[in-house]
Amino acid sequence: MKNTVAGFLEMKAKGEKISMLTCYDYSTATLMEEAGTNMILVGDSLGNTILGYRDTLAVTMEDMIHHGAAVCRGTKNTFVVVDLPFMSYQTSVYDALTNAGRLMKETGCNAVKLEGGVKIKEQISAITGAGIPVVGHIGMTPQSINAFGGFKVQGKSEDAAKRILDDAYAVQDAGAFAVVLECVPAQLAAFISEKLTIPTIGIGAGEGCDGQVLVWQDMMGVFRDFAPKFVKRYADAGGMMIDAFKSYDSEVKSGVFPSKEHGYNINDEVMKKVIEYDNSRNSK
Ligand code: KIV
Repeated sequence: MKNTVAGFLEMKAKGEKISMLTCYDYSTATLMEEAGTNMILVGDSLGNTILGYRDTLAVTMEDMIHHGAAVCRGTKNTFVVVDLPFMSYQTSVYDALTNAGRLMKETGCNAVKLEGGVKIKEQISAITGAGIPVVGHIGMTPQSINAFGGFKVQGKSEDAAKRILDDAYAVQDAGAFAVVLECVPAQLAAFISEKLTIPTIGIGAGEGCDGQVLVWQDMMGVFRDFAPKFVKRYADAGGMMIDAFKSYDSEVKSGVFPSKEHGYNINDEVMKKVIEYDNSRNSK
């Protein structure tokens, strides 16, 4: 069954949890589709996991469209959300709407996500007003990494916690159908989840959220530069890949690969003719 905005609101009402994973390519998307993941986020975290940047600030609209379209080609029932990258929506409501429209048209995704609460409520209103579903993102918002002075838990002090609560209401009032809560204390995230009518999707925000999201390379042990505390490793796919790359390297070098079964044959008579042809060329 196709995952939809209405379906997610129903899941929240029934207390059913929503699963979301990041994804940036066709093949991985087909696997998540087969696994029954509810939502895929084509996150601007591709700046780290795919492109090797230190943060997400250099990610462009073209990057998001390129990867978003690939993921959409690999999905049928999974709901695909694509991130608006840094400076594609902060600059004006017009830019936000134009760029959200581009993501929808040029990737085929189902919704867009943007970071911020009170400060970008007009952008969210304009996008949702145009019929484009929006996922908000508050708490630790990686596009503001320089303002935060690093990847740090947000909302620990009274003022900071109240600001996150205000952001949550602002995002909901502006028409977003879900909101990501990143790196906020579990008690605050649970309280916000109870108060909002839209689903909260947590990442480092505890078990009280209506859903969870993880970066797939983190949960599969493929991205090994660093692992935040909130990541649970479900497999060591990175270790399996290194072992496989090593076996390949040694089999190529020792001649074990490729064996006959991995090759193609030519008819002996045809090959004989090729050899005769070569002989005649060389004797000219
Ligand atoms: O870009 C991303 O992957 C995200 C998640 C961390 C929520 O925004």
